[in-house]
Amino acid sequence: MKLIFKLLTGLVLLVMALMIYIEISSGKKLDAPYPELRAVRDSAVIARGKYLAYGPAHCASCHVPMDRLKDVDQGIEVPLSGGWEFDIPPGTFRAPNITPDMETGIGKLTDSELARTLRHSVGSDGRFIFPFMPFQEMSDEDLTAVISFLRSQEPVRHEVKLTELRLVGKALVAFGVLKPKGPAITPPVAVKEPTIEYGRYIANNVANCRACHTKMDMVTGSAIGPEFAGGNEFGVDPFSEGYSFVTPNLTPHKEYGVIAHWSEEAFVGRFKAGRVHKGSPMPWGSFSKMDETELKALYRYLMSLKPVANKIEKTVFAPGEEFPATIANSSIE
Ligand code: HEC
Ligand code: HEC
Repeated sequence: MKLIFKLLTGLVLLVMALMIYIEISSGKKLDAPYPELRAVRDSAVIARGKYLAYGPAHCASCHVPMDRLKDVDQGIEVPLSGGWEFDIPPGTFRAPNITPDMETGIGKLTDSELARTLRHSVGSDGRFIFPFMPFQEMSDEDLTAVISFLRSQEPVRHEVKLTELRLVGKALVAFGVLKPKGPAITPPVAVKEPTIEYGRYIANNVANCRACHTKMDMVTGSAIGPEFAGGNEFGVDPFSEGYSFVTPNLTPHKEYGVIAHWSEEAFVGRFKAGRVHKGSPMPWGSFSKMDETELKALYRYLMSLKPVANKIEKTVFAPGEEFPATIANSSIE
């Protein structure tokens, strides 16, 4: 009896120590450099920032109230007053108000604090920012443009509750499964032209096409399949209206690449048309606002990739339909 009692007490103490460790480690203030960027008032720079925020960088797909998401999907420019909420096992994530309101928005944050969040995934208060915003390698010029635009907006007073992590989320941070990501490469200088080079920049550094269209480990966010060959699974979530999705192969493989037989005009037209499948996680509303130069660059870049023979049988699964986790959906030959 005595021994069991001792073992149990030991176990309880161990669990308590673990919980305390997770609580303390996940709340530690993180360190990251402050990029030396300054917002400017140049109207061309502000226009570029606005274009990015409502278009390829799709800030508007998250930083708006929940009841305005449908409007964003229609290409309407909704003020970025925040409120988007995503409730998943690691926690309840809320996209804050990023208009310059002094009390409820980013009015009191410095340009460097904003730049640090986007480039190094560390919030203004030193907390770890979960990987919702893959802009670490956005160019200095574009990051400056985005921040200049944020400053130029009409302030909107809209209180958004802070993100709340659950034990799972805190443990992911405490044990370093997820850690702040800085730029993996020196952010390039991007010249907006319909070139492969510029398409690579938009697809990889701004619009997040690569992360969704490459098979990823959903916990760590690292690639586990060939780039742009599809196969990433999106199960039912609070925004998917019961549908599930697998991303298509975007490489120009003659048999298995979705766009391999599309003309450049068809590709541009597909993006201009916006959303087709309700519930799809792809921010079609924001992307429908990309201009022809951007879209042509994306097409030329994707068509320049090495074809990968990754067969994706099906990309859209209706509510109740059997989803890939249980059926073999893709095979790399
Ligand atoms: C997929 C959704 C999503 C997209 C797209 C997105 N954000 Fe966020 N953003 C979030 C969430 C969620 C948080 C809150 C994270 C947290 O509290 O840990 C956040 C936080 C922020 C913060 C606050 C950081 C702080 O210090 O408190 C800023 C600033 C920000 N985002 C700017 C942007 C900008 C600019 C863009 C577009 C270039 C953008 N976001 C695109 C979801 C998104
Ligand atoms: C958040 C995840 C996500 C992001 C980001 C994303 N996609 Fe997708 N994409 C999907 C999913 C899921 C589908 C399948 C459902 C659908 O067609 O909406 C898809 C479908 C497509 C299709 C096929 C459309 C059709 O009509 O058959 C193309 C082409 C495409 N994506 C290109 C891109 C490009 C280019 C980018 C970057 C500019 C991008 N995607 C960014 C998730 C994403």
